[in-house]
Amino acid sequence: MGKITISDEDFQKFREFFYRKVGIQFEATKRYFVDKRLIERIEATGAKDFREYFMMLRFEASGLELQTLVNLMTVNETYFFREEYQFQCLVNSILGEVTKNKKDKKDKKPIRIWSIPSSSGEEPYSIVIYLLEHWPDIEHWDVEIISSDIDSEIIKSARRGLYSARSVQYLPVHLLNKYFKPVAGGSYQISEDLRSAVEFTCVNLMDADDMRNYRKVDVIFCRNLLIYFDDQSRRQAAETFFDALNPGGFVCLGHSESMSRISSLFRVRKFPEAIVYQKPGEYL
Ligand SMILES: C[S@@+](CC[C@H](N)C(=O)[O-])C[C@H]1O[C@@H](n2cnc3c(N)ncnc32)[C@H](O)[C@@H]1O
Repeated sequence: MGKITISDEDFQKFREFFYRKVGIQFEATKRYFVDKRLIERIEATGAKDFREYFMMLRFEASGLELQTLVNLMTVNETYFFREEYQFQCLVNSILGEVTKNKKDKKDKKPIRIWSIPSSSGEEPYSIVIYLLEHWPDIEHWDVEIISSDIDSEIIKSARRGLYSARSVQYLPVHLLNKYFKPVAGGSYQISEDLRSAVEFTCVNLMDADDMRNYRKVDVIFCRNLLIYFDDQSRRQAAETFFDALNPGGFVCLGHSESMSRISSLFRVRKFPEAIVYQKPGEYL
């Protein structure tokens, strides 16, 4: 069998396909990264060349090969307490408004927080730790934390809750001791209580069918995903979040991400800790 190569035309075809499915458009600078993974999968599946592999990828009913490829192509970089100021904003500013709205309407329903993308779980677990440590009202409210990612392997790892020293390096030591136990090989296992506090789901933010299941959310954390999207995918994400949120609900983005440029759907709210986005309208 000759050496498998990816031509410029193959790359373009794949790039378009991946963009439509996942919302991420690979720039020419990512060519080496993409080619390497494509060739790996062509060889692993026994396809003769890119053409045969691409045909299978597009028409395979189970979607398993696409999922495998997505898992290989996604960037899962994350760590505990990343961009901590937003968790401070959650407990000091955002939740005060959310609970006031619910109290005014005598709504006893849970406060629903959605962290998408979760990657390996550091972000949703950081939210739980922050609530337990800094939000005394947690005693009076039922809080549901849902966390989602497109990468099926990373979701398994999030459920497992096993972390490297690098992942927990910004966690204060007393919190590390309180919520984790060291395991052989220098890793840390997050406590069972925290693991059961987060519901992890594997979904694609660009898939309207997946997204229909997320409604009546009070706060969305979507950090360090929109940087990989173009304006059109960002606009679609903004619309998805709008539909998922309760009126008055909030969206927190990563520090280098902004929605004001792409969407007029949300109000910009400047809290002392962070700038966040709010769905207008009266809480129902
Ligand atoms: C860099 S991580 C961000 C994790 C975390 N929010 C943080 O800020 O540390 C980006 C994650 O986005 C996920 N992702 C990429 N495209 C996605 C999509 N269309 N829907 C859901 N998740 C996606 C990747 O699998 C990856 O785990």
